[in-house]
Amino acid sequence: MSAKVLNGTELAARVKAELKIKVDALGQEGINAGLAVIIVGDDPASRVYVNHKKNDCAEIGIKSFEYALPASTTEEELLELIETLNNDRNVNGILVQMPIPKHISEEKVIAAINPLKDADCFHPENVGNLMIGKPVFMPCTPAGVVELLEANDIQIEGKNCVVVGRSNIVGKPQAILLLAKNATVTICHSKTANIAEICRNADIVVCAIGKAEFIKPDCVKPGAVVIDVGVSRGADGKLVGDVQFQTVSEIASAITKVTGGVGPMTRAMLMKNTVKATLLQNN
Ligand code: GUN
Repeated sequence: MSAKVLNGTELAARVKAELKIKVDALGQEGINAGLAVIIVGDDPASRVYVNHKKNDCAEIGIKSFEYALPASTTEEELLELIETLNNDRNVNGILVQMPIPKHISEEKVIAAINPLKDADCFHPENVGNLMIGKPVFMPCTPAGVVELLEANDIQIEGKNCVVVGRSNIVGKPQAILLLAKNATVTICHSKTANIAEICRNADIVVCAIGKAEFIKPDCVKPGAVVIDVGVSRGADGKLVGDVQFQTVSEIASAITKVTGGVGPMTRAMLMKNTVKATLLQNN
């Protein structure tokens, strides 16, 4: 069997086209959506991600404000910038690209963002709202995964879903979203015994553990759906995901590729949150 490749680029384009209509309509009312993107330091991968986000904004008609700060930026300076942006009426969403340098507290930075401008859905208030089933914003990568599944008519309700990875950005909120869709959810992580055995029980595996080609055919039930969130660089410099694509696509029924899969969906959800933030701030 050869798995269907779930196309995130195509679906993201559809989501963005719908958002553009909303952004244009807001513009007619004199309301301009704006997203501030802060990048601290010169991590090359972060630079690429931030450029993609700015391009998405331009495509939809969202104004983007980039703040590229040196790695030597102090915590106080970053918190001051966030406070300025919290009070800037032209800025509806604020995103601090992670990771940030180790001398700055990620927790303090996230907590400093006005929850109504939290385009990433990282703030504890927004995470709490998500947890109790009353989300204001959606966590971008997990929401992108769910939209990709649903748009491809892959049933979530009643299915055994295994999330591999327990990060605050992906693993934990992914489990909550799948649970909210009535899946039975198991979270595996680096200390889990028998990951392969647990994954083999899954109808849907979402892998976000950040280990190149971690999911091999022994982790996949024939006909399962496999979603790859990880991005690493192989020894040859090529991008590889958390899933060994060639071998796993032989047994899965549907799968995502390391490029053109989850990544574009994450960014489309960021745009969605920015539009929602703009609406919330203008009603
Ligand atoms: N770093 C990796 N993924 C993300 C994301 O979704 N948002 C932010 N702000 N940083 C990231």
